[in-house]
Amino acid sequence: MPGLAIIGAQWGDEGKGKITDYLGEDADLIVRFQGGNNAGHTIVVDGKVFKLHGLPSGVVRKGKLAVIGNGVVVNLEELAEEIEQVKEAGGSIEGLRISDRAHLIMNYHKKLDGAEEKYRGKNVVGTTKKGIGPAYQDKIARIGFRAGDLLEDDLLKEKIGFIIPYKKDMLDMMGAEPCQCTTESLYAKMAGWRDMIGDCICDTSVLVNDALDENRNVIFEGAQGAMLDIDHGTYPYVTSSATCGGGVCTGSGVAPNRIDRMLGVVKAYTTRVGEGPFVTELAEEDEKKLQAKGGEFGVTTGRGRRCGWLDLVVVEHAQRMCGFTSIVMTKIDVLDDVPELPVCVAYEIDGTEYRHFPASISKLNRAKPVYETLRGWKGTDDTESLVKGGYDNLPGEMREYIEFTERYLKTPVDIVSVGPGRDQTIDRRNGDWWS
Ligand code: IMP
Repeated sequence: MPGLAIIGAQWGDEGKGKITDYLGEDADLIVRFQGGNNAGHTIVVDGKVFKLHGLPSGVVRKGKLAVIGNGVVVNLEELAEEIEQVKEAGGSIEGLRISDRAHLIMNYHKKLDGAEEKYRGKNVVGTTKKGIGPAYQDKIARIGFRAGDLLEDDLLKEKIGFIIPYKKDMLDMMGAEPCQCTTESLYAKMAGWRDMIGDCICDTSVLVNDALDENRNVIFEGAQGAMLDIDHGTYPYVTSSATCGGGVCTGSGVAPNRIDRMLGVVKAYTTRVGEGPFVTELAEEDEKKLQAKGGEFGVTTGRGRRCGWLDLVVVEHAQRMCGFTSIVMTKIDVLDDVPELPVCVAYEIDGTEYRHFPASISKLNRAKPVYETLRGWKGTDDTESLVKGGYDNLPGEMREYIEFTERYLKTPVDIVSVGPGRDQTIDRRNGDWWS
């Protein structure tokens, strides 16, 4: 049973990086299938902290292939900096593979990202300004650079020739910072990228499918979260890629029947970055407390994340879009010593109770959370003993919080994370997931 996908069930920052790294121990390939360096993964290995954005988490594990699939948009300039970071920490990128079909994020995309936000006025999305949206726009408009273009000199020159004047006009029209490059300087820069990672570029769909055929273990690592999906998220306050179950297939070039397990990563409370509706959001003072306790500051932008109670209407939506076979609950320790824990089980909108997450932003803005309040538990500083004691020895109230979630979602919570380290994990898995 070798194909396992890991997807965030909220608005991103659920702790997918840690879980990918934890399960990655048994994986041969780790594949990213959407998003770009708007994502941020913090991984702690032997006390060393890695902050990754564009590189897949698996890259810090020796002997594994870390694959950037066709559905990802790649900023090669910024990837080079991350590669340096990994090398400085004694790691290697030997196992890195980049799809020849993956699109490239160019500097003009970053400039356009900022300019587009200006036009949205009070409806700003609050993007990471990494150029993600404009890069996907070019993909759909069929004028994007793909990684494979770097390997075809004539095609590359031809594309640069027509794209540069077009983008210069566009930047000018949008009142964005102008692009100083010429066709020659851009060609020189892109030839440099070819020298840097040309050997890593290949047909990763063949690579991944071959690995699955050989019964090797493959993890598909999601970025952002289900609620930021371009179709199923809180549009327009979303990212520009397919973050849900279907995106695994289109973004990595595998068929749906190759995914054997879908893991939904659920933070024990809710956070979101940027603008958009958030029904269980806390008032400022309480939000600040949870933000500080949970270290809820963006890895990519440094922005303080908005915080709120666990919203199971959100997670049920993600469950329907992804078909989770297991839930991983993360950061439950952050809720230690909170006497009462409200969990949102429905929305009340204009006098009607909603059990399913609505599409309308104005409805969501009027939605009031319907809570069931669970009892909190007393925390401990001795995480080692907590983990050693296993699930059955966790405080009863904590188990009830977990089991309430299981009942609501009709899905088992198979892994519980009680801290950032690999060893701060309580594993309830039944049998070997890879056999
Ligand atoms: P973009 O992906 O930069 O276009 O930003 C679109 C929205 O997605 C903004 O609200 C961002 O804050 C949010 N977003 C993008 N990447 C992440 C992430 O990795 N975690 C949380 N939010 C994200």
